[in-house]
Amino acid sequence: MKTTPVKFNNTVLRDGHQSLAATRMTTQEMLPACEMLDSLGFNALETWGGATIDAGLRFLKEFPFDRLDAIKKMTPKTPHMMLLRGQNIVQYTHFPDDVVEAFVKMSAKHGMDIFRIFDALNDTRNMLTAIKAVKAAGKHAQGTICYTTSPFHTIDKFVEMGVELEKLGCDSICLKDMAGLIPPKVAAEIIGGIKAKVKIPVNLHTHDTVGLGLASYLAAIDAGVDWVDTSIVPFANGTGQPDTLRMQAAMEHNPRQPHYDEKTLQKLRHYFEGIYSELGKFTSLKNEVVDSDALTYQVPGGMLSNFRTQLKEQKMEDRFDEVFAEIPKVREALGWIPLVTPTSQIVGVQAMLNVKFGPWKNFTPQAIDIALGYYGQTPAPVDPEVRKLAAEKSGKKPIDCRPADLLEPRMEKLRAELKEKGMPTDDEHAVIYAMFPMELQKLYTKEPEPAPAPAAPQPVATSKPVSTTPATKTTQMALGVDGKTYSVLVEEL
Ligand code: CO
Repeated sequence: MKTTPVKFNNTVLRDGHQSLAATRMTTQEMLPACEMLDSLGFNALETWGGATIDAGLRFLKEFPFDRLDAIKKMTPKTPHMMLLRGQNIVQYTHFPDDVVEAFVKMSAKHGMDIFRIFDALNDTRNMLTAIKAVKAAGKHAQGTICYTTSPFHTIDKFVEMGVELEKLGCDSICLKDMAGLIPPKVAAEIIGGIKAKVKIPVNLHTHDTVGLGLASYLAAIDAGVDWVDTSIVPFANGTGQPDTLRMQAAMEHNPRQPHYDEKTLQKLRHYFEGIYSELGKFTSLKNEVVDSDALTYQVPGGMLSNFRTQLKEQKMEDRFDEVFAEIPKVREALGWIPLVTPTSQIVGVQAMLNVKFGPWKNFTPQAIDIALGYYGQTPAPVDPEVRKLAAEKSGKKPIDCRPADLLEPRMEKLRAELKEKGMPTDDEHAVIYAMFPMELQKLYTKEPEPAPAPAAPQPVATSKPVSTTPATKTTQMALGVDGKTYSVLVEEL
């Protein structure tokens, strides 16, 4: 059995606050913790990506690359890690290769070291441009397998994908359990299977949403996993990653126990407790507690809570069970796609429409695109009847090629648009503008600040959350169907 210590990546600056405080931690709130975080010797600090770029621009009015610069300066010793949605970069649609390449290059230039690259369909063709761009920048490409349950997704299928990712040039592999649904023995079987066939390090990422996280890490560690992701209380446990101290304590007498300084971890906890209470408007008891509810439905916890709100808005609360029974049917028809951003939202809304109007009577444009191959190759084939119906309803042709092959290069056009608007035309602005044009423009049009209340106490943070969005919301994605827009809450973990 392996005796080398397992290494922890720390997620408090990305997934920790994304999962427990709607991605609202500001750069100013992060900086005082940086020196301590850097001193602990973590394998990596997850500092960027996922929803942080969107939420930072939208709610905190921060230019994304500024955060990267500021944190990098304060944590020079530890490698930085980010979550990248392959060809979607950090958005929900496909971007041309030149935009993906420029984004990776600029991120590397600003200090990003490890790129955790995934695709919502586990279609490696959608990951390849990003992998190559990371390698070209001399950085670490971590190929990611999205864990999900379905009759199609056997242990062997996941192991096969791990082997493929190594062949594509990845430097390590991550098994990403965004929903926190992986049982310990399953984690051990997949990790053990991959470890037996590849030479590169293997990482497990999970959440403690239903209470399996820590146990699954322990099982994966016994099976030889090299790295696992932990966070720091109170941005840990529940819908976040297991807490670092807790994970370390659970490994007492385990030959692979790492040693991260407990006093520093306690100091960090104390510091983050203050931030957590400052972000009170965006935190919720629901996210803190372990709840096995999501196990029943096999969907990400965030999707479950968002969906209850959604059904309420549609006055369909009484049809909750029916809609949830429809989810596996929609997934099967759409080739057993994993439920991760953005597919979890697309499947959820389609299930709701199927119950409301009858099966496939109303199709969202996004579900049509999945059925016709515009998101990439689905794990299993799409139901031919559903594919036919999608083609008829939309007038679009099914495709089998890599979706980004249909996209023209865009960087030149983006620079020209920025110039026309009198904004900076560097590649940093171009790639952010490609994904979030409205939000970036708002940074350059000064809105009058509301006058502060005279007796209000001064917060430590210099930039306060500006939205009154409820705690569970990260950002919204609009799904249109027959002229009606279904606004969906998007949470990516
Ligand atoms: Co996560």
